[in-house]
Amino acid sequence: MRLQGKTALITGAARGIGLEFARAYIAEGARVALADINAEAVAAAAASLGPQAMALQMDVTRQDSIDAGFDAAVAAMGQLDILVNNAALFSAAPIVEITRADYERLFAVNVAGPLFCLQAAARHMIPRGRGSIINMASQAGRRGESLVAVYCASKAAVISLTQSAGLNLIQHGINVNAIAPGVVDGEHWDGVDAFFAKYEGKAPGQKKQEVGAAVPFGRMGTAADLTGMAIFLATDEAKYIVAQCFGVDGGNWMA
Ligand SMILES: NC(=O)c1ccc[n+]([C@@H]2O[C@H](COP(=O)([O-])OP(=O)(O)OC[C@H]3O[C@@H](n4cnc5c(N)ncnc54)[C@H](O)[C@@H]3O)[C@@H](O)[C@H]2O)c1
Repeated sequence: MRLQGKTALITGAARGIGLEFARAYIAEGARVALADINAEAVAAAAASLGPQAMALQMDVTRQDSIDAGFDAAVAAMGQLDILVNNAALFSAAPIVEITRADYERLFAVNVAGPLFCLQAAARHMIPRGRGSIINMASQAGRRGESLVAVYCASKAAVISLTQSAGLNLIQHGINVNAIAPGVVDGEHWDGVDAFFAKYEGKAPGQKKQEVGAAVPFGRMGTAADLTGMAIFLATDEAKYIVAQCFGVDGGNWMA
């Protein structure tokens, strides 16, 4: 029960990694607001986790939605100890096929989303002089990929944002850090696989099989593989850890 008495807001929590983090935080004693643009899915996700979970419909690209969501979470839970900036979109295209609309769509969710959510969280946390903010980066933020320029750039921005926000907010007792997963199985990667099927002429499922086999650990990650780091960074044991990005990827990026 390492998060007993703590409260968390997790964006993009209707499925995948965000939902698994919500489950893990509740198992450690926290109350969790699951926020997602998909109202129906997030309501079902929160209901599946029991009374310690609440659902929020939130679009991280809209300031009014962010403000209303954080206010509702604090009103319902009394305080906010932990934010996980998890919501993100993926896209892939060769450089000459990237559209301005796709660039703006991804950066609105993947970069402006975490920035203005962490700002909203910080405004609630600063008066209490404590808080933990965890940004979901990616191995994709540590190096480019031929077909994945926009997503990689957005995740590099998340790592940079983690560094600046970490340095700025630690004076208020707020720790900002990031997790960089490698390849994590789930609905997100089904979408990634479809992009590679299109651009590399692979059969459906082939890219997923190939990337899993290439991970030094021997398989793709699961959302559950990431929960240890997500819990640790939210505990007081991580108080002296500031502005860092931790790879949890089975050795994938290092390789
Ligand atoms: N799955 C992987 O292989 C992998 C690898 C590295 C990093 N990551 C990162 O981990 C995080 C979670 O990944 P996942 O695989 O669970 O993704 P996912 O696509 O399964 O889930 C993302 C969630 O975000 C929500 N969302 C999208 N736009 C939103 C918006 N505007 N406002 C609020 N919610 C919105 C979606 O509805 C969805 O429920 C992401 O930041 C992703 O970039 C994932």
